[in-house]
Amino acid sequence: MNTKYWIVDKGVDNGDNYPHLAEAANLLADGEVVAFPTETVYGLGADATNDEAVEKIFTAKGRPSDNPLIVHISNKEQLDYIVSSVPEKAKVLMNTFWPGPITFVLPKKEGIASKVTAGLETVAVRMPNHPIALALIEQSKKPIAAPSANVSGRPSPTTAKHVYDDLNGRIAGIVDGGPTGVGVESTVIDCTVEVPVILRPGGVTKEEIEEIIGQVEDDKALLDEKVAPKSPGMKYTHYAPNAPLYIVEGSPTFFRQLIVEKKREGLRVAVLTTKENEGFYKEADEIVVCGQRNQLETVATNLYDALRSFNKMDIDIILSEHFPYEGIGIAIMNRLNKASGHKRLTEKRG
Ligand code: TXA
Ligand code: MG
Repeated sequence: MNTKYWIVDKGVDNGDNYPHLAEAANLLADGEVVAFPTETVYGLGADATNDEAVEKIFTAKGRPSDNPLIVHISNKEQLDYIVSSVPEKAKVLMNTFWPGPITFVLPKKEGIASKVTAGLETVAVRMPNHPIALALIEQSKKPIAAPSANVSGRPSPTTAKHVYDDLNGRIAGIVDGGPTGVGVESTVIDCTVEVPVILRPGGVTKEEIEEIIGQVEDDKALLDEKVAPKSPGMKYTHYAPNAPLYIVEGSPTFFRQLIVEKKREGLRVAVLTTKENEGFYKEADEIVVCGQRNQLETVATNLYDALRSFNKMDIDIILSEHFPYEGIGIAIMNRLNKASGHKRLTEKRG
């Protein structure tokens, strides 16, 4: 398949309705699959009311069919066609954070393609905070089902180049709107229960949510890797680079000793670090700087590009710094834990 590629500058091409998007929107309305930018990661969109179109997403990504998709909307009126009710707490959160990186799991309505929800009675819905995504949804006149636009198992794409590398030749088109901003996916929150449950930590933090509606819970699976997650997608391994990745817990001296030790074993060592510590790992063969530790948002923004970059390097092992479990750090550590398969190297104290 010939994949079309449109460059849409969100700063310049900023008319009422982005004329360059018309072709992409028409393809979506015709049941084709098109990748587009959101503020979190690139999505791979299809008409959420068309089972055949949605099936093409699963085929292009190689996504397991039991993993439901998020339906993307551009205005709240569309909710009426997708969900059967919106509980009060969800309404308040939507008013606060939409458009934005938070996805609500709600009771579904008939009419949404059954492939979208993977047979569940609930549907996930989000209004992205990106002018191109909103314009594309608006112009297609459809709710748009969209997972992240990567081959299943790989890190989500934060640039159109990442999408191209994964899916060129397998989808109808790619809308290139430049790099995304947030860098990790939306927070998924189940609002079908009295006390909402965070199924996936993401762009809107637990602290921000609790400030608005009071206490929410974390899905048990987020705290204990042996518990089955409520969100089907969370059980799959994800984001892992080709070389084994270890999260290092300990002093900087311990970290450097590890590098020396691994090199002595004949391994080529890469390090995932931050701007502050860049100069610290001179012994490593490759150093990837991922944002600034004192601004965790920048780590989130750059994380998937960093993880993807390791696959272009001649290395045998990756050692990563770890990040505090607070704010966006929770989403960062959730992705790093997955990328590493929960492998850790921890300093023994005593
Ligand atoms: O930021 C994002 O959310 C991006 C952009 C493109 O919007 N999308 C994204 O989609 O990350 P995806 O498919 O990669 O992840 C969706 C997650 C999966 O873990 C899936 O299992 C979960 O949402 N999910 C979808 N529908 C659900 C439902 N009805 N109940 C529970 N979890 C659901
Ligand atoms: Mg994904």
